[in-house]
Amino acid sequence: MIYSKILGTGSYLPKRILTNADLEKMVDTTDAWIVERTGIKQRHLAAPDENAVTLAEEAGRAALDAAGVKPAEIEMIIVASTTPQMVFPSTACLLQDRFGIAGCPAFDLNATACAGFMYGFSIADQYIKTGAIKNALVIGSELMSRIVDWNDRSTCVLFGDGAGAVVLGASSEPHVLSTHLHADGTHKDVLYLPLGTSKTPSLETVKMTGNALFKLAVNKLGDLFDETLAANHIQKSEVDWLVPHQANIRIIQAMAKKLSLPMDRVTITLDKQGNTSSASIPLALDAAVRDGRIKRGQLLMMEGFGGGLAWGSALVRY
Ligand code: ACO
Repeated sequence: MIYSKILGTGSYLPKRILTNADLEKMVDTTDAWIVERTGIKQRHLAAPDENAVTLAEEAGRAALDAAGVKPAEIEMIIVASTTPQMVFPSTACLLQDRFGIAGCPAFDLNATACAGFMYGFSIADQYIKTGAIKNALVIGSELMSRIVDWNDRSTCVLFGDGAGAVVLGASSEPHVLSTHLHADGTHKDVLYLPLGTSKTPSLETVKMTGNALFKLAVNKLGDLFDETLAANHIQKSEVDWLVPHQANIRIIQAMAKKLSLPMDRVTITLDKQGNTSSASIPLALDAAVRDGRIKRGQLLMMEGFGGGLAWGSALVRY
């Protein structure tokens, strides 16, 4: 049997920080409202000369270093991003050029929003498990600051920029135990970015029905945990860490409760980073790996949820 294993993780956050106090000067909001409703205190914003490729490269190189894998050993590049540098070439192809590793498949997943990283992770896992490839680089890279309406307080306070990456490699030991992906287009109206190159030349911004999305997230993710645990015949008490998408602290608290995990067994970055969409799971994973909280052999539940709706999970023996 071949399994995939997380060989290394990496991340990158732009230097500029926008605090809730800064936002108080921009829209009709308060630090107290944002912290109470979301848990977010600040977020990072990309500089004008940064884009999805430059962020992805920083995170990707850090993950390769941590894994001890050379760029030339990567056999697939997947970049999840709702904010690609261009429609095509893909962010993954532009990154491949920077790495100088022409030849291997490289593609973006941009329609799965905040669930994009879990989709990329699952695809790479499938290719490795079948023996088709040995190593894959999976990255979430987002500049949400470029697609939010900075006059809309119901969305602009939520998001941030950043990139996170993992190198997945083949292993004879069971590490990635299973992945689970779902989508439900009937909820297309609760979160969307009506920007399509075949539809409109004008730049659009994110539209969201936050409270409906909140309830859907809690319900769908709860079912997803049950599905993921049942697929592996594992009890929730065996899970060591929840590594969730960082949309809202209240959603994360509900998810921790569902797994009966105390909050100190949940990777939280949203207080400092906001919601970085498809970058948030690898960013949270990398933070906890690098500071030593997550250790080899521990069992991780990873989950992502975003516009589409699209959602997915992975159960990983780190
Ligand atoms: N500051 C102050 N007041 C605000 C703000 C703000 N920034 N934003 C909204 N309000 C007001 C609203 O206008 C409303 O006022 P009203 O009662 O007078 O009408 C009130 O606060 C309550 O608004 P709700 O939307 O009901 O607030 P809620 O408690 O639901 O919190 C939030 C909103 C934070 C957006 C929450 O619903 C949420 O996190 N939803 C889920 C988001 C999510 O999961 N996203 C993940 C996917 S993201 C992706 O895929 C890219």
